[in-house]
Amino acid sequence: MRALIAGNWKMHGLAASASEIATLAAKMKDAAPTDADVLICPPATRVAAFTAKFSGSAIQFGGQDCHADPSGAHTGDISAEMFADAGAAFVIVGHSERRANFGEGGHNEGDADVRRKAEAVLRAGLTPIICVGESEAQRKAGAALEVVGAQLAGSLPETSDDFVIAYEPVWAIGTGLTPTLADIAEMHAFIRSKTRIDVRILYGGSVKPGNAQEILAIDDVNGALVGGASLKADDFYQIVMAGGGKQ
Ligand code: 13P
Repeated sequence: MRALIAGNWKMHGLAASASEIATLAAKMKDAAPTDADVLICPPATRVAAFTAKFSGSAIQFGGQDCHADPSGAHTGDISAEMFADAGAAFVIVGHSERRANFGEGGHNEGDADVRRKAEAVLRAGLTPIICVGESEAQRKAGAALEVVGAQLAGSLPETSDDFVIAYEPVWAIGTGLTPTLADIAEMHAFIRSKTRIDVRILYGGSVKPGNAQEILAIDDVNGALVGGASLKADDFYQIVMAGGGKQ
């Protein structure tokens, strides 16, 4: 199965960031062809422009979140159909930064919301990347598998199994901490037991050039969802190349 190396730029990225993508595209062109699919999810404001600008490259683009409805009176929201219209191939749904409570007046998403969004992405003809992952307290309590099992049961689409799952332990995101390789292997095998054999299961949480190879070598790790290290072409390229060695 081809690895998917996906960059989640979160709330980073302006028109000028195209230069990082141009550097990445040039490096990918110069190197031996990689077996990995490469995706960047920039802020929604850049999806259409980057898709058009890099249409001749092997880099695909995606959204970071979407509304479940195709259109409507939802100020500030973006539908999966709009991402399709902008040229996106994937949309991330259920990231822990969206599942988290944003505070008074903010939205936080539950499993049912994530499932509706994932089904909306499929309806629009795109592929959802559905994020799951336990908190630090849940892992310390020995409940990681149970928590992720419940998230999968509640968030995976019922209409199709053409999706990608990203396991992102919340405590590993942006912290430089990662689970042990054995813990990643255990969780990915657990997720695999709940899904079809050819569903790609990505690992996310402090993936860097220095640890990408060993993480991507684990059975049932079929790619990575990369935050901070996806913003710099040199770092992301090294992770892409580590994914290219994965069969
Ligand atoms: P970091 O790679 O910055 O830890 O972020 C991971 C993440 O949240 C990707 O969606």
